[in-house]
Amino acid sequence: MIYAGYTPKKSSDEQYTPAYAVAPIIKYIPGNKIVWCPFDTEHSEYVLALKAAGIRVVHSHILTGEDFFVYEPEEWDLIVSNPPFSIKQKVVERCLALGKPFALLLSNLWLNSSAPVHLFREKEMQMLLFDKRIQFTEKNAAYFGSSYFCWEVLPRQIVFENLNRSKYEESRMADDMKKLIKPLMNGHE
Ligand SMILES: C[S@@+](CC[C@H](N)C(=O)[O-])C[C@H]1O[C@@H](n2cnc3c(N)ncnc32)[C@H](O)[C@@H]1O
Repeated sequence: MIYAGYTPKKSSDEQYTPAYAVAPIIKYIPGNKIVWCPFDTEHSEYVLALKAAGIRVVHSHILTGEDFFVYEPEEWDLIVSNPPFSIKQKVVERCLALGKPFALLLSNLWLNSSAPVHLFREKEMQMLLFDKRIQFTEKNAAYFGSSYFCWEVLPRQIVFENLNRSKYEESRMADDMKKLIKPLMNGHE
């Protein structure tokens, strides 16, 4: 499917983070900083939870014309989000190049390759590990675990948190995406 020139590489690139998976990272975000959510719309659970915690947020998304690899907000202090998994390596490299703290929710499957291992050793990247898996879709239980892959956010290199979930919960960003995609679908249905 192509949306106005943007083609998600995989359906996993369009899975939205439920609120219970956002909650555990919020306490590690300093209240006086501006958070940039670069893969998020107005009702992303990241944007909503950060605002609810009284933290200033700027959000951007490729479908509102802000490509993460081109766009940068005027003011921001750290990045918090769940990026598209298919381009995780490029996203982490850009975050490191930007030189500000970040917390990115990524599949633990990334640890099967050597690139993150080098980054953990050389850049002292950090991980927030969960006791359960996040369920991103209503139909299927996830076959992979996810963690926050961070830089200069956590107090230690490895932190453990519990996920407070009992059933599937949909992110409110899903409705934003339906509204953004609909006008772009003309001629593609
Ligand atoms: C895995 S989803 C997660 C969305 C949201 N961060 C969340 O956690 O609910 C990643 C989102 O990033 C968007 N995206 C893909 N490439 C992008 C880019 N280069 N710049 C900004 N957003 C992009 C996708 O369309 C998708 O909606």
